[in-house]
Amino acid sequence: MKILVINGSPKGDKSNTYKLTKAFLAGIQEGAEEKSNAKGVPEAKMVLEGKAGQRPKEALEIEEIQVTRLDIHPCLGCFSCWDKTPGSCCMQDDMGEVIRKLLWADVTIWSFPLYYYTVPGGLKNLIDRQLPMVLPFMVENKDGTGSGSHPARYDMSGKKTVLISTCGFYAAEGNYDGIYSLFDHICGKNQYTSIFCGQGELFRVPELSRRTDQYLEYVRRAGKEYLMGGIRPETEAELNRLLYPRETFEAMADASWGISRENGEKESDALVFTRQMAALYRPESYPGRELVLEMQYTDLGECYQIVLGKEGSRVITDGFMAATTRIETPITVWRSIAAGEIRGDEALMKQLYRVKGDFDLMLKWDTFFGGPGSSAEGNSNAAGGGDRPGTGGGIHIPRKATDMKILLFPWMAFWIFPAIHNKTGCLVSIAVCALVPLFFYQNKKTFYDVLSGVLVSGFSMAVLLGLSDRIVLPLSYLTFGIMWTVTCLGKIPLTAHYSMNDYNGEDALKNPLFMKTNRILTLAWGILYLLTPVWTYLLMGTGLKPYTGAINSIMPIFMGIFTVWFQKWYPRKVAGGN
Ligand SMILES: Cc1cc2nc3c(=O)[nH]c(=O)nc-3n(C[C@H](O)[C@H](O)[C@H](O)COP(=O)(O)O)c2cc1C
Repeated sequence: MKILVINGSPKGDKSNTYKLTKAFLAGIQEGAEEKSNAKGVPEAKMVLEGKAGQRPKEALEIEEIQVTRLDIHPCLGCFSCWDKTPGSCCMQDDMGEVIRKLLWADVTIWSFPLYYYTVPGGLKNLIDRQLPMVLPFMVENKDGTGSGSHPARYDMSGKKTVLISTCGFYAAEGNYDGIYSLFDHICGKNQYTSIFCGQGELFRVPELSRRTDQYLEYVRRAGKEYLMGGIRPETEAELNRLLYPRETFEAMADASWGISRENGEKESDALVFTRQMAALYRPESYPGRELVLEMQYTDLGECYQIVLGKEGSRVITDGFMAATTRIETPITVWRSIAAGEIRGDEALMKQLYRVKGDFDLMLKWDTFFGGPGSSAEGNSNAAGGGDRPGTGGGIHIPRKATDMKILLFPWMAFWIFPAIHNKTGCLVSIAVCALVPLFFYQNKKTFYDVLSGVLVSGFSMAVLLGLSDRIVLPLSYLTFGIMWTVTCLGKIPLTAHYSMNDYNGEDALKNPLFMKTNRILTLAWGILYLLTPVWTYLLMGTGLKPYTGAINSIMPIFMGIFTVWFQKWYPRKVAGGN
């Protein structure tokens, strides 16, 4: 397959759109390599190495034209290419070579920004100068639309067209009517593939690369699918999804100019940064009370507040309110974090910034300030109306969450019921263990959920088979304690598997502060259960035996209260630099 890329952006290879085009080409290349896989040698490489003779069917040849680098004069309208020198323009510039390449290509990819609802001037010149490629006669349009067309001078059958474009407004929708009209006439209605994306300027903002890279990944996928026969509707739906919700994007875009809305004067870097951060706030995360985030830029000596409310956020530059969370850091650290050069939690552990007040905001940062794909319901990017709706709901992939109750239920059953009635209690415990797999329809299972079911069943069977419960019950507490304590030595302490649900899921496992907090808590709980067998054994020899389960619940209640407190206190202590 021969592909011609025409990059019509005046920015050349610095073009936002060109990033999408490169991703699309990467997908095509990947698809081609997968398709042919000639004796393990990627075919694109074979072409590069000049082994065209050995090329398998799916070999790719890609040529690129950067319109800004070419000498293409505007059409003179003399029609010489129709009558005096049929098929040849009277001007000797680079357009002759462009026409040769257009005739050579099987697929032409037009890559361009939207300028005034159409293509940029340089590209329009190139399009006009295609006149030698058609004959002067007037014929009906194939699809019967318009007032006629000119027949092709050359055999263009089987050639395909792809349009890739970004524009500056929040969505492609309603912006591309001119482009559709132009290419419907050139190629025939719907006789081309298009990827049109709003919010194009975001592709050059490194701080937002998590979201834009995600989009580019879908473009790459589209390229691969295109080669395989056509872009799948699921991929198309993702391509039609807004990068960010309209309000977020427009607030970010407005702030990015660094100019005050009130007086048009230039604003400080720190204020621009604060405004952009405020724009990323997601009102869906409103926790039921207004939060006031105070940003103290220690290197610039500037301080601003962001009020996170039910309807949205607002930036306060003076007349400050009482801050709920205060972050003290140089702006350089903020920028590194935002650009993904260092993780926020890592910077915190290295004491690169300090946090005072409510630390929960920090732990749930992505929930408040929209991680990638935090777009809102129905936020279609689609040009051309309602025929290509966004699927809504963000890039959020519903994931099953773990639940510690699944781990605890079997143990609790065994600790309470056999002490009251030996045999029935053991049967109840086994029944509870048997029910555990049912929870896995709704919840994500952990190794410890399964292990707990197996262990408790084993202990219950042991009692049923006649082993003394005075031995087996303390042994079960000991096993439980060992299970918890041992995980403190491994990579993920036991509680982290469960508490991560409240802190961005598996991403929390990369957060050193989260992991340290959980390691300490797991150890505390582990130690409690390593000691519990001692008094359990003694209690089981007294008249209090039926109440052992109840008595052994007292300490965990206090530990539970301690856990809730420690989970908040410890990260705040570390973040506060104490
Ligand atoms: C002269 C000019 C005209 C523009 N016209 C539009 C427009 O009509 N609609 C729109 O949404 N964006 C418009 N934009 C914004 C660009 O389409 C947008 O910045 C695009 O992402 C630039 O892509 P590029 O980096 O590939 O050149 C315009 C930009 C310029 C400089």
